[in-house]
Amino acid sequence: MLALAAATVLPRQDTGPLSFNWYALEPADDIKWTPCFGSQLCARLNVPLDYSTPNGPTAQIALQMIPAADKENYQGTIIVNPGGPSGPGTQFVLGNGIKLSRIFGPTFDILGFDPRGTGATTPLIQCFNSVKEANAWSIALGMMWDYPHDTSVQRTRAHTQLIGQLCKDKFGGSGKEELGANATEWGPARFVGTASVVRDMVRISEKLGQPKVRYYGVSYGTTIGQHLAALFPDKIERMIIDGVQDGHHWLNGYNYDIITDVGDVIDDFYQTCVAAGPSKCSIWEKTALGVKRRVERVLDSLRNDPIPIAHSVGGPFVLTEDIFLQVVFTDLYSPLSGFPDIAQLARAVETRDITRLAHVADGAVDTSALPPWYQPNESLFAIECGDWPPYTDSLRDSLSALRKSIALVPRLGLYAASSTTHVRMACSGWPIAQKNRFAGPLAGALPVPVLVTSSRYDPVTPLAGARNVTARYPGMRLLVQEGAGHAAYTTMSKCTAGIMRAYMITGELPPEGTSCKRELVPFVDVEDLEYDLAAQARFGRPFSHRLAHRS
Ligand SMILES: *[C@@H]1O[C@H](CO)[C@@H](O)[C@H](O)[C@H]1NC(C)=O
Ligand SMILES: *[C@@H]1O[C@H](CO)[C@@H](O)[C@H](O)[C@H]1NC(C)=O
Ligand SMILES: *[C@@H]1O[C@H](CO)[C@@H](O)[C@H](O)[C@H]1NC(C)=O
Repeated sequence: MLALAAATVLPRQDTGPLSFNWYALEPADDIKWTPCFGSQLCARLNVPLDYSTPNGPTAQIALQMIPAADKENYQGTIIVNPGGPSGPGTQFVLGNGIKLSRIFGPTFDILGFDPRGTGATTPLIQCFNSVKEANAWSIALGMMWDYPHDTSVQRTRAHTQLIGQLCKDKFGGSGKEELGANATEWGPARFVGTASVVRDMVRISEKLGQPKVRYYGVSYGTTIGQHLAALFPDKIERMIIDGVQDGHHWLNGYNYDIITDVGDVIDDFYQTCVAAGPSKCSIWEKTALGVKRRVERVLDSLRNDPIPIAHSVGGPFVLTEDIFLQVVFTDLYSPLSGFPDIAQLARAVETRDITRLAHVADGAVDTSALPPWYQPNESLFAIECGDWPPYTDSLRDSLSALRKSIALVPRLGLYAASSTTHVRMACSGWPIAQKNRFAGPLAGALPVPVLVTSSRYDPVTPLAGARNVTARYPGMRLLVQEGAGHAAYTTMSKCTAGIMRAYMITGELPPEGTSCKRELVPFVDVEDLEYDLAAQARFGRPFSHRLAHRS
């Protein structure tokens, strides 16, 4: 995996990411808030590892909340999830809580929780014995995609089998399920599936004194939402799912075509670069085709002449075409910051600007000094493989999946495949079965209206997925945010924010077929968190054509 190492130089001030020690917080059977990270609140809640055995061992769910500022008009708590699977909700609130508060307004608490196996929730699914071991193996995985030039797919299959074996040994349990036995003996990795996570959400709401759940979930968070809608439709007060995974694919372990729209996102990169002009886009050309050719020359130069960087933020490394493309793929998720980043990096490669390129780091970033809730972990595999049905893919199956991915997105398909084929490989023959796996269907009529949102062009959750899911749950309504990026969240406009807020407050859905215009344009605008005005203008009024136009 690849990360911009800036995230690892975490500030240690009073309200910074390292200011709070989660493990020092006593877990309790009720939510007992403790101040944390400035004016936020934190708690650890005991929940049954297995809800069918309430007196058995427990998991401790980490909760972090920005309390509603407007206590007089208080309306309740919105539980949020950032996706992954394996994205910690507490870190989502730490990094994005202000944005979420501004979208939904001061009458709601914003609460993130770390789903089982992740973040500050315990047991944390870390299958390696040390950060050093985990990093060594993640580097090996980061270098795996040299297909078809070598046997890297074969090696990757073996790597992922190794992870499965380590996880089984540490978190698969002893086969004993006795009341007196501890979580380790029961096998925590057998209880991290999405069906258990939605029970936790219902439990969290109940413990807050709110009998029904208000929820906003992004990406894999939409899979959580679909489980909630299928398993506990009567427990939903309000729900927005944004950047939608197709639950039918999910339950069948099939997700090869989630990258179908990557080409459209890349086209958007070329076009917005051209439109922005040479002063804003550092690899500007007169036409989209011109920009495309320029990017291809950059890739060719990296392929033929990788750049050695002796002193990067993560230590010495060599910038290869592979690493560059991985950065590009990640940047496609959030065009407002990502597109300029791609253009600047491409320019830096052209000019061999080592100072700029030294801000790219590979997996060698040393996180061993950080607390466990910022460490690498294998919860993604445990959750996803646990939700998927058992299967064994042959090498031929893996290769053909990879070829499909490459065919879908020329040149970038191999890197996009890290989120499709790679997990599929890891889950093939996964040795830990979920006890409470939900086999489906993820469908059904809803007793309350539910809002579905998507950007027009999404690199990993295409609009088609949102349409598929909306059709399976009568009561859901789709809102499209024009523009590119992962989920409407990254492309957010005042229009979409206003509709989301009004829905949370009143339950009112926008008219069928509504889409919101792109308000912020990559290369030209930066992210704007001032959603308040639009939402206030909208509040209590019917939808008007000024705010929403039909697609
Ligand atoms: C676990 O890994 C995921 C990525 O798969 C990452 O987002 C998360 O921060 C990691 N750490 C914890 C403790 O969950
Ligand atoms: C769980 O019980 C086993 C067997 O008694 C013991 O070896 C292990 O240390 C216990 N683990 C925890 C986390 O308490
Ligand atoms: C939507 O459903 C169709 C028909 O089942 C399927 O072929 C397609 O892969 C789905 N698309 C997504 C992105 O889930």
